[in-house]
Amino acid sequence: MAGIGGIIMGSSTYLWILDHEQVLENPEKWNDWYGGKDCVVMTTRSLPEVPGVRFAQGDVRPVHASLAASGKDVWAAGGGDLVGQLTDHGLVDELWISVTPSTTASSCT
Ligand SMILES: NC(=O)c1ccc[n+]([C@@H]2O[C@H](COP(=O)([O-])OP(=O)(O)OC[C@H]3O[C@@H](n4cnc5c(N)ncnc54)[C@H](OP(=O)(O)O)[C@@H]3O)[C@@H](O)[C@H]2O)c1
Repeated sequence: MAGIGGIIMGSSTYLWILDHEQVLENPEKWNDWYGGKDCVVMTTRSLPEVPGVRFAQGDVRPVHASLAASGKDVWAAGGGDLVGQLTDHGLVDELWISVTPSTTASSCT
């Protein structure tokens, strides 16, 4: 995270985080995770606001340029829709792929 100056995400991802992490009820969570980062949510709608988040729509190139102005990396947090737009404009140069193990109750018997 230290090398990241800005974060861009689509509205589906943003709303998923708000819902699953109850961020509106606990807005300090956002600051704990993303504090100090310039964060843009791409949307055509009027969405719930969290301090530190700004909204944009349309061409992702000027948004990416504003986030990259610090000289640090821009994290495209997802989802696939948004990352596809950035890829179309040649703005994705690293993919970080994580594997998250999961278990079910039946696998523990
Ligand atoms: N596992 C992970 O690490 C991870 C990470 C990220 C996401 N995800 C998952 O991926 C899923 C979401 O991915 P997704 O591809 O469906 O959606 P997404 O990229 O998060 O959001 C897509 C939505 O963002 C808005 N949008 C995107 N580009 C825009 C633009 N240029 N201008 C204006 N609005 C724009 C549009 O919605 P509106 O205009 O209608 O608002 C669009 O429908 C979720 O299930 C999430 O949990 C997983």
